[in-house]
Amino acid sequence: MAGLVTVVLAAGKGTRMKSALPKVLHRVGGKSMLQHVLDAAREAGSERSIVVVGFGGQQVKEAIGAQAEFVVQEQQLGTGHAVLQAGSLLKGHEGTVMVLCGDTPLLTAGLLKKLYAEHKAIGAKATVLTAVMPDATGYGRIIRTASGTVAKIVEHKDASEAELKVNEVNSGIYCFESAELFKALASVSCDNAQGEYYLPDVLEILRKDGEKIWAVAADDYEETLGINSRVQLSGAENILRRRKNIELMDAGVTIMDPASTFIDMAVTVGRDTVIYPFTWLEGNTVVGENCAIGPNSRFTDAAIGDRVTAHFSYAHECKIGDDVVMGPYVHLRPQTEISAKVKIGNFVEVKNSNIGTGSKLPHLSYIGDTDMGSGVNMGCGTITVNYDGKNKYRTVIGNDAFIGCNSNMVAPVKVGDGAYVGAGSTITKDVPAAALAIARERQKNIEGWKDKRK
Ligand code: UD1
Ligand code: MG
Repeated sequence: MAGLVTVVLAAGKGTRMKSALPKVLHRVGGKSMLQHVLDAAREAGSERSIVVVGFGGQQVKEAIGAQAEFVVQEQQLGTGHAVLQAGSLLKGHEGTVMVLCGDTPLLTAGLLKKLYAEHKAIGAKATVLTAVMPDATGYGRIIRTASGTVAKIVEHKDASEAELKVNEVNSGIYCFESAELFKALASVSCDNAQGEYYLPDVLEILRKDGEKIWAVAADDYEETLGINSRVQLSGAENILRRRKNIELMDAGVTIMDPASTFIDMAVTVGRDTVIYPFTWLEGNTVVGENCAIGPNSRFTDAAIGDRVTAHFSYAHECKIGDDVVMGPYVHLRPQTEISAKVKIGNFVEVKNSNIGTGSKLPHLSYIGDTDMGSGVNMGCGTITVNYDGKNKYRTVIGNDAFIGCNSNMVAPVKVGDGAYVGAGSTITKDVPAAALAIARERQKNIEGWKDKRK
């Protein structure tokens, strides 16, 4: 079986995160670090991913599911030992094995493609991705021969004074030809400062066997940064946000204040949409063209049409049609579908409901479990009473109904097309189409009451 297989090393505990969660499951840019790595590998053409897990392995398996196969490294004896664990799954694999780490969420598919393409074009048995670091402390150093080819990689703790001066480092990302990788791994020893089986030793072993080894330098060292602490995690978050904002701005979206705009990687935004400050677009949110979103808004897994205005709004798992005007202070909860041209705002909450075209819910309403037609006018303070303490029931409101202020619709109940509900009514029975329902005490005036009162 030829082709590209990825092995992701993720068995380490990530002690410096000081967390009960395995390091690679920490989220950045809206998804886990490991998910970023798997996505980049797949996008770069990898046909199969194997994740080496150890600490918190079960949690990692559950989070990643069918996207990858898993092998357990019971004891963390080094990166070479970790790759060896994938050997049984790679028996008979005749292509390339790309080795990645689970804690490098800034990697791009473009860089991995470049690494793989060059590895293949050169015909190397091992190719390491290198980066020039402003501060190389802690990294393995790339030691080159007089002619400039790679001689070996020396770990920081094993390096000589002269070797420590090298600032070209091993990113921990490689392509290997499978057969040569496992052959060389068999002769890696743990005779070094850390007593570990080092994966980078494979390069020197192969070179001494007369095999071709190669190095590809990353243009931007940022892409290869590994995250070991919460401070580094926040740095990565900044870099990912900045990248996403730039991608959107380059595609024709106005972002007024990128520093206060948080857009997850999978979000799409249409041309000429303007995003105002303090806005979060999360998960698989889709925003159409010519919208004005924010300020102070949050959308999670929401599908937003074109020409939508939404300020001071929060919506999750719902659909919002074209030309909707929403806000300020709207909360749209899951399974809500707002049709085109709806106007909704000023402290209105909608849950598990369909709102028909052009309906208006302008002030202080709770609408739950409701099917509302088009052209409905919901007065200020209207409420659908959907819960009796045990069960939830639906309210149906027909097209062009007019619901007076401060009315309650006690579900299950239906208000027909074109019906009117008088202000202050508590509706407990169906209202026929075109009828007027008034369900409130009649007003009584007691003349001269003040004087009689004493
Ligand atoms: C490693 C490289 C170093 C390189 C650096 C880049 C080795 C010996 N050194 O060093 O040359 O500059 O990465 O970041 O490879 N892991 C396992 N099982 C183990 C050990 C590690 O799965 O037994 C995983 C870790 O979870 C991590 C990755 O391998 O995702 C790298 O391990 P780490 O301990 O961070 O290696 P470094 O010392 O950083
Ligand atoms: Mg590391």
